[in-house]
Amino acid sequence: MTDTGSRLPHAPGPGCPAHAGAVRLGGLEYQQTPAQLYRTLRREHGAVAPVLLDGDIPAWLVLGYAEVAYVTGHDELFARDSRRWNQWENIPADWPLLPFVGYQPSVLFTEGEEHRRRAGVITEALEGVDQFQLSRDCRQLADRLIASFAGSGRAELMSMYAHALPMRAAVQMCGMPHTGEATVQLVEDLRISLDAAEGDDPVAAYTRVGERIRQLVEEKRERPGPDVTSRMLLHPAGLTDEEVVQDLISVIAAAQQPTANWICNTLRLLLTDERFAVSVSGGRLSVGEALNEVLWLETPTQNFIGRWAVRDTQLGGRLIRAGDCLVLGLAAANTDPQIWPDSFAGAESSAHLSFSSGEHRCPYPAPLLADVIARTAVETLLERLPDLVLAVEPEQLTWRPSVWMRGLHSLPVEFTPVVR
Ligand code: HEM
Repeated sequence: MTDTGSRLPHAPGPGCPAHAGAVRLGGLEYQQTPAQLYRTLRREHGAVAPVLLDGDIPAWLVLGYAEVAYVTGHDELFARDSRRWNQWENIPADWPLLPFVGYQPSVLFTEGEEHRRRAGVITEALEGVDQFQLSRDCRQLADRLIASFAGSGRAELMSMYAHALPMRAAVQMCGMPHTGEATVQLVEDLRISLDAAEGDDPVAAYTRVGERIRQLVEEKRERPGPDVTSRMLLHPAGLTDEEVVQDLISVIAAAQQPTANWICNTLRLLLTDERFAVSVSGGRLSVGEALNEVLWLETPTQNFIGRWAVRDTQLGGRLIRAGDCLVLGLAAANTDPQIWPDSFAGAESSAHLSFSSGEHRCPYPAPLLADVIARTAVETLLERLPDLVLAVEPEQLTWRPSVWMRGLHSLPVEFTPVVR
């Protein structure tokens, strides 16, 4: 690994003295060695670093474990409604982060009592999911997906498996059949809205997602069933149909990318690290340990945007102004030397911040459901294709250049073809 120490892409501050020497949040380091980058940032700037987002928009990257826990635990100081940002006048209409940062009337941007109402409905609706049934459903989904490539002896697991499975599982949890034209179209539109490829039209796809979810809500109003959508509609908090639509889209979207990357990062670890050595007689560590180690060291949501300061305050020795944006550095916090002074020893503990913390954390049952989906996906694949190996050298696997999600471009594998 190369040391990026003295070569961070420093940029001129955007006029504010606090952001003099701010670091552009982007670049190759995120693709290859973000852990090194976070170490260097911490060394040069401390637990809260001044950074520049796309278009050189200033923000703070919170790198310390204690500081991320503090920010997420004090929503009266660091709140979620992005309309209080003091940078809106500098944000162009086509700013690439607008889909994540622009205010939407969903649970994600609500605060206080209103957030408790909306998040409470989601929590109870997710609590109604039978984890054994979910596991059985995921196994069936996994079997179908595996059957589509098992005969060829080769597969690209990122698109053919790791993304496809949680998307279908989430759609099914919400009460849609996992097959059928409407579902196939919804799954494809969700993929385009969350992860557009060249030639895709994410705005049109997102509009179709809204229309399909609105139709689902109407159907479930008329004929409720044992699913998340119906439980949200029947909840005594009395959400409007439009509130349910907004929050269902948040649930499905929140379930998709992080769970897909959790699956893929775990498969990568299992296939490249000899402690797990799945292709050679079993390995010494289990799938469960690999899933947990990934949450510590290659967490899917490496940075999350974010929180907005309610008033002037101090954090990590920095003066944070009212309306400043804070990015939660979840990956950096998980590897903070303050909690790992000697070396990493976290595999058995689940005190990482990968699901965030505090009022807006990933709502309680969701991490459990994500665990069922990810574990079933990984275990079923390894059971069905026991001699699965990488089809390229480990060094040839490349990470996507995203600052936000930690995931691979592709995961090509090969195995003995299974003839039915
Ligand atoms: C079944 C799968 C999942 C579901 C249904 C789900 C659902 C949600 C929802 C509804 C929120 C918004 C909470 C709020 O604003 O009150 C959320 C936030 C979040 N989720 Fe999940 N999620 C899932 C899987 C995951 C996974 C696998 C990860 C990462 C390993 C993850 C990490 C997060 C993070 C970091 C947040 C942001 C919390 C914050 O603002 O502090 N989620 N999730």
